[in-house]
Amino acid sequence: MNNERRETIYNQAKEWILQAGTTIREKINDPLVVNTKSNPNDLVTTMDEATESFFVSRIKDTFPDHFIISEEGYGDNLKSLDGTVWIIDPIDGTMNFVHQKRNFAISVGIYHDGIGEIGFIYDVMSDVLYSAKRNEGAYKNDVKLAPLKKEIIPEEAILGMNHFWLCENRLVDEITMQKLVKKVRGTRTYGSAALEFAYVAEGIIDGYLTMSLSPWDVAAGIVIVNEVGGATTNIDGVQVNMLEKNSIFACNSDLQKYMLDFLQKGRK
Ligand code: IPD
Ligand code: CA
Ligand code: CA
Ligand code: CA
Repeated sequence: MNNERRETIYNQAKEWILQAGTTIREKINDPLVVNTKSNPNDLVTTMDEATESFFVSRIKDTFPDHFIISEEGYGDNLKSLDGTVWIIDPIDGTMNFVHQKRNFAISVGIYHDGIGEIGFIYDVMSDVLYSAKRNEGAYKNDVKLAPLKKEIIPEEAILGMNHFWLCENRLVDEITMQKLVKKVRGTRTYGSAALEFAYVAEGIIDGYLTMSLSPWDVAAGIVIVNEVGGATTNIDGVQVNMLEKNSIFACNSDLQKYMLDFLQKGRK
């Protein structure tokens, strides 16, 4: 993707994201229709759907040759990442949106022929926009994020993760996970994968570990974390496939080898 083209797409995406965020803030106290999807805790609201539909209609009108992968069913059913693909989570952290009215984000990653070119994570209620263009660094609003500091040791690391790791799971045995939780300085669960990626990029947590996420949860975050020199793979150290669900380990690259080796000891 040439720079001029990328700049046009970046500016347009940013405008739509800020616009969608303003709408969500204006309607935050309106009555909400909440439905469930795969299980009673898997929520979707009319705001998730309206926000996704806003992006999809704007993209289809303005960039008719672009493709869309998105959570709530308005996008395309893609079998390949050829061309320009917008990977969109209209509200990442729907449970937070419903229960807390904060701590959720709009996440938009834009890939070209499978390469992450642009990433946006918008913390809507805090009005904080994390953004990155490949090879041009990452930003929190207008402030460039520093490369992740080296020389972090596991004993001083804070890891983002969720409670499912401590329950029986299909990837890593529970004893190994308990040892890992004891090894590190602390763990945090924010309830929005996109924000957890943004926090890794910002250096306020040192890693984010999760068992199964969809492309729209991680597409933007991967671009942003890569731009501060972080590592973004699945828990086996393999590159994430943007057409499937993946386990995820995003981190300060200093931690990567230690953590991946640790997880492999309990790998099922
Ligand atoms: C969810 C959030 C949550 C993560 C879940 C995701 P959603 O996304 O990112 O933090 O633990 O796995 O599905 O459904 O709120 O967009
Ligand atoms: Ca969801
Ligand atoms: Ca999500
Ligand atoms: Ca979502």
